Order: sequence, then C-alpha cells, then structure tokens
Amino acid sequence: MDEKDLVIPRHVAIILDGNGRYAKAHKLPRRLGHKAGCETLEQIVEDAARLGIGYLTVYAFSTENWKRSEEEVGSLMSLFRYYLKKLVKVAMENNVKVVSIGDTSRFDEDIREKLGDTIKQTSANTGMVFAVAINYGSRDEIKRCVKKLAAKAAQGLISPEDITEEMISRELDTADIPDPDLLIRTAGEQRLSNFLLWQSAYTEFYYTDVLWPDFHRPQLIEAIESYNKRERRFGGRL
Ligand code: IPE
Ligand code: IPE
Ligand code: MG
Repeated sequence: MDEKDLVIPRHVAIILDGNGRYAKAHKLPRRLGHKAGCETLEQIVEDAARLGIGYLTVYAFSTENWKRSEEEVGSLMSLFRYYLKKLVKVAMENNVKVVSIGDTSRFDEDIREKLGDTIKQTSANTGMVFAVAINYGSRDEIKRCVKKLAAKAAQGLISPEDITEEMISRELDTADIPDPDLLIRTAGEQRLSNFLLWQSAYTEFYYTDVLWPDFHRPQLIEAIESYNKRERRFGGRL
C-alpha cells in the first residue's frame, strides 16, 4: 500500500518490550538496553507526530516493574531523569503535548518535578498528545477510579445506581484521551501485562518479534499497514 493512502489511526498505544533481550543479544548490560530503548522512543515520538497520529501512548514503567532488581529500577529512574529533559526538546520541536498516566506519587520528588515541568512546558502545544504511562497498571487505575466514585457516592454527590460507563471513563487517568485504535507490542510477547484493560475493549492488536530498540519508522508503518487491512468491528454487525 502506498504510504500516502494509509489511514492513520487516531490513537496508537505501544507496549515497548524487549530492551533486556536487546542488551543480551548485543552483550551489553541491561541498563544500556533501556538506554537504546529511550533513544528509539525519542525518534518514534517525532515519527508519530509527523505521520499525523493524534495520540501516542507508551507503556514505559508498570506497577509491577518495581519488582525488578534494585539495580535495574535505579537505572530506569536515572534514565527517566535524563530523558525527560530531552523529551521537552523533542516535544517543543514537534508541537507535541506531553501528559502522563499512572500513579506518579511513588516517584522521587525530582522526577515528579521534572515530569510536571515537561507537562507544563508543552501544555500549549496543539499537535500530537504523547501520553507516557509510568507506574501505570490498569488494575491500579481502575481501583483508584472506584475509590473516587465510591467517595462521591458516600458524600451523596452521586447515587450508585446512576453510575455509567462514561462516568468510569471520566475518572480514569485517560479521561482526556480517546480509546486506542491500534495497540502494538514489540518483542514477541502476546499479552497486555496490565495495560489499558478498560480502554482497549475494541482496540486492534499488533504483535511483532522486533525488539523495542530496533523498532523504527518502517516498523511503525508496517503496523499501520496491518491496521489498514483490518475490518474494524465494535460489537454489532457492520
Ligand atoms: C521493556 O523491556 C522496558 C520495561 C519494561 C521498562 P524489558 O526490560 O521488559 O525487556 P525484556 O522483556 O527483558 O527483553
Ligand atoms: C510490560 O513489559 C511493561 C512495560 C513495557 C513497561 P514487561 O516486560 O514488564 O511485561 P511482562 O513481565 O513481560 O508481562
Ligand atoms: Mg519485558
């Protein structure tokens, strides 16, 4: 298919996986696999914005990833510190608005501050929305949403029987983001790993064996081409 004829999905979500396997294949420490993954991410943000993708959500750190070794968690935190600074530059050059999903309260204060600054500095940008999922887990997000609705019910602001699907969507971290149209997972695994469980009810899934650090514009185009060949359904008959 000619690239200019492609229908570009409005919202692409990516589970970036395989940094560890990339490091192993190149006989590098895991930390350098993650560093290579950050560099790939920087480029993909720019590529996605130029392609006209409206929303790009990436799973960068899950609620379960704290269970990794202290050394690995530490090196991921150092990378966040460094790449958040670089992200501001990429976002400003490409009119990208950065937001985050996940419970950031668990991060060190300087990381929270840097993230807050990045969000603030890019908030007036009108192009692609780049949502970075950090300390994100769908079950945790749904739990926090249920707590908020239960608190409102306890205060008498809403009544339990009036709770709608829309109200739930509005209390999730993704309140301002449409559901993903296409979800890509790299590195061969075919599971959601606690990512966007509620939001991906009708999302098209695309899996590739390519390891995240090797995922570049041609691989993104390939995923979009596959999406273009799908016959999308939303439950009813077309
Ligand atoms: C994905 O790469 C990045 C994070 C989860 C932070 P992995 O670190 O999971 O890489 P593999 O799965 O071990 O290859
Ligand atoms: C999913 O990858 C989480 C992120 C990409 C941040 P993992 O590598 O942590 O997931 P599992 O352990 O294979 O399910
Ligand atoms: Mg992994």
